[in-house]
Amino acid sequence: MASTIMNYLGFGNRPAGVESASPVRALPSSWYTSQEMYELERRAIFSRKWMLITHQIRLAQPGDWLKFDVAGYEFILSRDRKGDIHAFHNVCRHRAFPVVEGQQGTSKIFACKYHGWSYGLDGKLAKAPKYDELEDFDKSRNGLFKIHVHVDTNGFIWVNLDGREKPEVAWQDDFAGIDMQERFKQYNFDDYVFDHTYHMEGAYNWKILADNFNECYHCPTTHPDVPTLADIQTHEVDTARAWITHKSSLTEEQEKNGLGISSTYYFPNVSLSVLPHFMMLQRFLPTGPTRSSMQYQIFRNKNSSEDDFQLINQMYRRIVGEDKVLCELAQKNLNARIFVNGELHPRLEKGPLYFQKLAREVVRAHYERERAAKKEIWPARQELPDSDSAVTSREDEELCSGLACQTSQAVLAW
Ligand code: FES
Ligand SMILES: [Fe+2]
Repeated sequence: MASTIMNYLGFGNRPAGVESASPVRALPSSWYTSQEMYELERRAIFSRKWMLITHQIRLAQPGDWLKFDVAGYEFILSRDRKGDIHAFHNVCRHRAFPVVEGQQGTSKIFACKYHGWSYGLDGKLAKAPKYDELEDFDKSRNGLFKIHVHVDTNGFIWVNLDGREKPEVAWQDDFAGIDMQERFKQYNFDDYVFDHTYHMEGAYNWKILADNFNECYHCPTTHPDVPTLADIQTHEVDTARAWITHKSSLTEEQEKNGLGISSTYYFPNVSLSVLPHFMMLQRFLPTGPTRSSMQYQIFRNKNSSEDDFQLINQMYRRIVGEDKVLCELAQKNLNARIFVNGELHPRLEKGPLYFQKLAREVVRAHYERERAAKKEIWPARQELPDSDSAVTSREDEELCSGLACQTSQAVLAW
């Protein structure tokens, strides 16, 4: 009993309940419904952690760009003429207008439509009309806000929105080795081509879907396709650092058909399923405390037949649709404020318990930092320069935080 409480509070040596023989209480429903918690997660998680976004084959040519959105942070990935990949916020440095409006394109330059400032593919400010007549305007300090990029061994692009020169969390801290996992060795990632994207909007907190994705306890009752896909009795989850891997053994028939469960969940919000004919990157994107957008990127093996690809593609499409219904109905009851939480099975729900442990730890640590600083900490936010030019801006900011413009009631109460 005592050890369960210690684990719940995050003080145990092992992941809460993961090795335990006793059931373990899940995160409470308030974490899935409150606006304040959502805002805290935007600061503690989505502004600080590495997030898998896409594969570099979607930026094949110099000038190609793609726009993404995570928890209200809109950003662009681009490939410059030298072939390097960059990421920056879709926010003009002049008066904050978005520099791109579509979802993707090929450009020589990013031109803001508001007053005509333009930026290179690397985000550097190229032109600010009429600003050459001003003294003390430093173009080099007015490029688009940079976002950290990491391209892993298999060509997947990750970003970290932490605004510091060096992000507090290194990619290796959370993910070292995950791109070299044994089962990836049988695949040549260059064989996969981008096929299509789709998305679904769901009336639930993003963590509801993460909990759902990370266990297959619900598979027999929900997914008629699963017995065809893999042997569910052998479904296994492994956890380490910031990832959760899923696997199941296969019959000869399943193996021959290129089926199976072979996915990795990357905390906070992305899963990647890699199979011989098909690859699915699934991103769980919060758009509010009780709303999410699920964005799917589907890749196919260029050597696979249409039938082989469609068999698995359509199966996964049905499965994610079935999960959406589960999440919506569970969230509806969380919103009604009757249910606080239930007791999870430490083996069959090892995945959600590990996911919740990671979420709890990172949120608590950030909350403690904010308590110590007596203010909210927004790691992705613009830092004003030390120069005299920003003195008035700093005073204005202070005045505003005194009025609680940017400080929640909860922080003021400290
Ligand atoms: S806001 Fe972009 S040029 Fe003014
Ligand atoms: Fe499911």
